[in-house]
Amino acid sequence: TKAPGADPPETADLERLRSAASGCRGCDLYRDATQTVFGEGPRAAEIMVVGEQPGDQEDRQGAPFVGPAGRLLDRALDEAGFDRRKIYVTNAVKHFKFKRDERGKRRIHKTPSKTEIAACRPWLHAELAAVHPELLIFLGATAAKSLLGDDFRITRSRGERIDLAEFAATAVATVHPSAVLRAPDRDEAYRAFVADLVAARGDR
Ligand code: URA
Repeated sequence: TKAPGADPPETADLERLRSAASGCRGCDLYRDATQTVFGEGPRAAEIMVVGEQPGDQEDRQGAPFVGPAGRLLDRALDEAGFDRRKIYVTNAVKHFKFKRDERGKRRIHKTPSKTEIAACRPWLHAELAAVHPELLIFLGATAAKSLLGDDFRITRSRGERIDLAEFAATAVATVHPSAVLRAPDRDEAYRAFVADLVAARGDR
């Protein structure tokens, strides 16, 4: 049986969805996280960006992509010609998963499990049904696999336009901005990231 509050209500009202998601116990991640970090952006957005899960800053502030990865994302979207204010931004998993470092101080990101990704997928589906984006941009493998399936490989298919008939959308996957921040050649990784975003934009 499913945990109480694990299913989104049947509504396209983003505020009602957000409020319901704040009480989700669909997996165990709510126990250690500060809060649910729901998506943000206009309901009429033509573009939806999907990340992996909130990071340390997002967990504290309750908003997606407000930390270092978010700043890099904002800059890259701008450089690729997108208007960030018109984009709906969310994550495949809506609670921060982390472990403590040895001294128990820093919170270190842990990749969410398949079970956690599956438990959170109904919320992503609900956001898709409410916003109906024409273009979906997946940042990193977790986001891409959540909707494109477990066989999807970023390395093989990044920057490719994929027809997602199920959601009446075009999807493009690229690397996660955190991977750009960690890359040995950061400038090169950043340029490739922006190039994928330009490919995603197409002629819009
Ligand atoms: N990384 C993500 O995938 N999402 C966020 O919201 C922040 C960092």
